[in-house]
Amino acid sequence: MTTVLKLGGSVVTEKAEPETVDEDALAAAADAVAAGTDDLVVVHGGGSFGHHHAADYGVSTTQGTHDVAGVAAIHGAMKRLNAAVVDALQERGVPAVPVHPFSAASRDADGALTLPTGQVRTLLGEGFVPVLHGDLVAHEGEGATVVSGDELVVELATAVGATRVGVCSTVPGVLDEDGDVVDRIEAFADVAAALGGSDATDVSGGMAGKVRALLALDSPSSVFGPEALAAFLAGESPGTTIDSTGAEPR
Ligand code: IPE
Repeated sequence: MTTVLKLGGSVVTEKAEPETVDEDALAAAADAVAAGTDDLVVVHGGGSFGHHHAADYGVSTTQGTHDVAGVAAIHGAMKRLNAAVVDALQERGVPAVPVHPFSAASRDADGALTLPTGQVRTLLGEGFVPVLHGDLVAHEGEGATVVSGDELVVELATAVGATRVGVCSTVPGVLDEDGDVVDRIEAFADVAAALGGSDATDVSGGMAGKVRALLALDSPSSVFGPEALAAFLAGESPGTTIDSTGAEPR
């Protein structure tokens, strides 16, 4: 049983304060991870570490930079957050190790992502918990662009043959038009009205892009809030379950 878990950047950082870890939230998340039993790959987002530097340099998943100061600022901030997450996990006895996507991943001229995952699979097999993060990637024709944690989750889930995928963000699940949590999504049409229709290019942050990407996976996934992280890691399916595997194509 292998689980891929995304911790949203706004779950573990103070989003309004540049480069500030939300220590209580990170401690609670690390406690929940330490209590889990599955093999685990963790991916965390940028929160107040990545996003404001990316905005300063005008960098997104499609708009790149060749400015080495920009690369240093964005990647450097993400490495500092990654170290904080890895340290919090190690302090609780989790064999967490850092894996930096910028060192290995790339996009072609069409923006398609290639993420080598051999080291992640070997680390898992050796009993480690690899901890990746939203980062920059080399991008042909653009310099360096952002790779979101959500994109990494999709690549990793397939590469490690994940049995479960969890996306922990600040909302308790995918919300319908009334603001209630949708229990189960089997096709995008189930939530298209609530999520604003086709939003296929939204790969960093938006719920529509998350849902589309998670529907494409072979494994079921759950979208839930921080209060449900322990339940997810204990094997429950809190929040919204996204599972197209049993659904008719439509
Ligand atoms: C963003 O990662 C990484 C950078 C800005 C460098 P995510 O898009 O996964 O971050 P969150 O979860 O929305 O904060």
